[in-house]
Amino acid sequence: ADSLRRLDHPSGLRIGTAVNTDLLASTPQYAQITAQQFDSVTAENVMKWEVVEPQRGTLDFAAADRLVDFAHANKQRVRGHTLVWHSQLPSWLQATITSTTDAAGNRVDTSSLPASELKALLKKHVQEEVGHFKGRVWQWDVVNEAFNEDGTPRQDVWYQAWGGTGYIADAFRWAHEADPQAKLFYNDYNIEFTGPKSDAAFALAKQLKAQRVPIDGVGFQTHLDTQYGFPDLQANLQRFADLGLFVAETEVDVRSTLPVTAAVQAKQTSYWTQTLQACLAVENCISYTAWGFGDAYSWVPGTFPGQGAANLYDEDLAPKPQYTALQDVL
Ligand code: XIL
Repeated sequence: ADSLRRLDHPSGLRIGTAVNTDLLASTPQYAQITAQQFDSVTAENVMKWEVVEPQRGTLDFAAADRLVDFAHANKQRVRGHTLVWHSQLPSWLQATITSTTDAAGNRVDTSSLPASELKALLKKHVQEEVGHFKGRVWQWDVVNEAFNEDGTPRQDVWYQAWGGTGYIADAFRWAHEADPQAKLFYNDYNIEFTGPKSDAAFALAKQLKAQRVPIDGVGFQTHLDTQYGFPDLQANLQRFADLGLFVAETEVDVRSTLPVTAAVQAKQTSYWTQTLQACLAVENCISYTAWGFGDAYSWVPGTFPGQGAANLYDEDLAPKPQYTALQDVL
């Protein structure tokens, strides 16, 4: 079949995509591919705090609800993304924050709000958002990107308010109370290969499990660049799985410097193949999600100047060799 949908796959693995809800409404071909090719969807932006609480105390789940309805109509599951993060905070909250850099070059965020108020705001946000979607979200990215590249905890305003990483356990507990059925994930990038950051995420996951915090899984964003490798992805997924956790590749894309040569195209295709094979080889790997599917709509060119071609479909929504490669692996 010309589809990545595999609801009957023996592994139970679901292939997903991030979805731009504006395109879903405006571009029929985009909506058609989303429905026909994928077994799960992630909101690329519309479940983020800046979208769901544009004014303090005023909730707006309209766009996210439309995506969840679309998923339900197409027998797709939903990955909820994301509850606790340092980025894409509402402007009314962001306006209280100033950023500096510490001696190690890591960012340090400071809010003018007192710790008690930040704590109450985060608790309310997690409870309201998870509660709103109760029973309709398969996996939640409860906490996103809590570590720096050197493995030290990110000094964001949540770290500031709690005086440490205690906000992570609290967020998982609140989310679990609000929807006991949802699978709760810690999600991060550059943790696909072992090193200080991956080791920090591993230590966190181990500690949360030991403390009986309701964490179900770890998400590996898997934003790859053909200039860099990922030598031990499968073994790394496996060590997290061995803690008794699910694992998922949550935001897969493979970017390159443009224009793409034949050699680079071949490398991209092999990166897609290998990342899916790694997931298939790990029993607890339950989803593999591409971060969008069309090169024309990717976040990559805007974030990494000069780079692109990171997706499964080209600028005209025609499938590329990496799409066929995934079909062959499944
Ligand atoms: C990106 C979106 O793709 C962009 O549209 C938005 O402007 C910024 O965020 N890691 C994440 C995602 O967890 O939420 C980010 O998504 C990409 C990196």
